[in-house]
Amino acid sequence: METLITEKFSDKHKLDFILSQNKPAEEWSVTLDRMVKNGSKINAEEKELIMAWLVGRKK
Ligand code: HEM
Repeated sequence: METLITEKFSDKHKLDFILSQNKPAEEWSVTLDRMVKNGSKINAEEKELIMAWLVGRKK
């Protein structure tokens, strides 16, 4: 998943920055929708995968 997420933010962010976030799913949903508006190529299925992984790794 780190590879997929890194692909999705290309050079716009550092992985550490993304992994340092501690958001519930609802907040990730808002952020990822905004990142799509910012140009990130994330489809609906990838969005669910990324959110589940980011939220799951903090549990
Ligand atoms: C082409 C890809 C991307 C671009 C151009 C981009 C661009 C930006 C920009 C301009 C901001 C600051 C303004 C704003 O919050 O909208 C931002 C914030 C942020 N981005 Fe991205 N981003 C991209 C992909 C991603 C991805 C894939 C993730 C997560 C997996 C991500 C997570 C965040 C987070 C956590 C913030 C801080 C604001 C917040 O917490 O909502 N970004 N991004």
